[in-house]
Amino acid sequence: MKKRENWSWRGAFVFAVLGSAVGLGNAWRFPYMVAQNGGGAFLIPYIFALLTAGIPLMMLEFGIGHKFLGAPPIAYRRANKKLEMVGWWGNAASFVIITYYGVVLAWAINYLVHALTLAWGDDTTGFFLNFLRVSEGPHILGGLNVPVLIAFVIGWIMVIAIIRSGVTGLGKVVVFTAIAPVILLIILSIRGITLEGALAGLDYYLSPNFAALADLTVWRDAYSQVFFSLSLGMGVLIAYASYLPRDAELSNNVFIASLADAGIAFLAGLAIFSTVGYMAAQQGAAVADVAGSGGIGLAFMVFPQVINLLPGAAAFGVIFFLLLITLAIDSQFSLVEGCVGAVMDKWNLSRGTALAIVSLPGFLIGLVFVTNGGLHWLDIVDKFVNGYGLIVVGLVECIAIGWIIGPQKIRDHVNGLSEIKVGKWFDFCVKYLTPAALIFILVFNLIIDIKEPYGGYPQWALNVGWAMVILLPIVAFIFSKLKTAKEADEFVEEQS
Ligand code: PHE
Repeated sequence: MKKRENWSWRGAFVFAVLGSAVGLGNAWRFPYMVAQNGGGAFLIPYIFALLTAGIPLMMLEFGIGHKFLGAPPIAYRRANKKLEMVGWWGNAASFVIITYYGVVLAWAINYLVHALTLAWGDDTTGFFLNFLRVSEGPHILGGLNVPVLIAFVIGWIMVIAIIRSGVTGLGKVVVFTAIAPVILLIILSIRGITLEGALAGLDYYLSPNFAALADLTVWRDAYSQVFFSLSLGMGVLIAYASYLPRDAELSNNVFIASLADAGIAFLAGLAIFSTVGYMAAQQGAAVADVAGSGGIGLAFMVFPQVINLLPGAAAFGVIFFLLLITLAIDSQFSLVEGCVGAVMDKWNLSRGTALAIVSLPGFLIGLVFVTNGGLHWLDIVDKFVNGYGLIVVGLVECIAIGWIIGPQKIRDHVNGLSEIKVGKWFDFCVKYLTPAALIFILVFNLIIDIKEPYGGYPQWALNVGWAMVILLPIVAFIFSKLKTAKEADEFVEEQS
């Protein structure tokens, strides 16, 4: 077997994990999830989900990747031949995310250009809808949106260029892409908080709404947001951990990455909701209405508002969107890398071939979201793949590790390497707590979603979402049955 590629220096791994975790999930998805769930109702379930699923599962994925040295399918296969499918399942889910993540990235690239002239003017909401020329419903695709298409191609070229350079290259890019955005978000938050009306926005964001905790869709969204934001359940972290040196620290990296990710999402929320408060005050509208009407485009309507109000707005806007792009790119390449690693390891292919196998279909399918009806589809696919796809994968992971492989095996491995020892709580989470929470959420949301179609979309469009969720394990099963290169089955214990 080829010697496994390694991160080039010690800090590279934690930066890479941060680079993957911190992305559009923090700056774009988190705020609109908060808004969709009525503001202050969201933070408590979110923190709960972070502790009960986020941290244990991240530990688990680091442990598997590092112990069994492979991208997800092969790592699971080495743990137990029957489990290979679990790995592919995560890869399949991440592939779905790859297809639309690149489109949101393309919006950001367009906004970078618009920032030069502050083209969005004062009516940033109208500008966004006009920019996407959103069709009336998912049944009207309309044509391709040319500016988005151009940016979509550019985005893919950048991602491919970075991945081609291999793991050593990744290590260098992420240092910049992980840190710089934080500084910008702090500046935006400070400006946001000092705006007129900001307090009402912050109140909406931060004051806990205990009544809403009874609504189970809030919990589902919180868990799926944690999965999305921490890059969990998609094999990315398994693949990344497999590139670590044999004597790497694991557990402290889990805490650094998960807490930093949550902190950055929180910061983005501060900037967004203080500005939403300002927008509401300007329009004489209620904060909840302004936040709720933004939908999936919320961040793109709100960030430009606060940018308008900064000294040197255009320059600031350019820097901000540049950073949003870098933030998104390292997440997108981690998604692609997870799949590329899987294909490479399974069939012992070269990086280039595997990259072509993953990115060509990823690009082509993504074109659906570049159409005028794309926003509706993005909304549906995002909802289903995160709300069901990822949560199911997380559950399957817990069952595989908790009940088949044995959580103490992973824990022993992690503890053998790390300064911070992982206690028995880990076994308890993986065996009981996390799966129980996930099953509970799945069952109740199934009932809710069957009763009341999500987002008012027609049933046939939602069925596409359901079909996708069902297809994920089928595809995973088929892939796991394909012939494996014999190199993948030679387990080399001592590598570095
Ligand atoms: N965590 C990334 C974000 O927050 C998205 C992502 C999901 C990346 C899954 C890798 C795997 O934007």
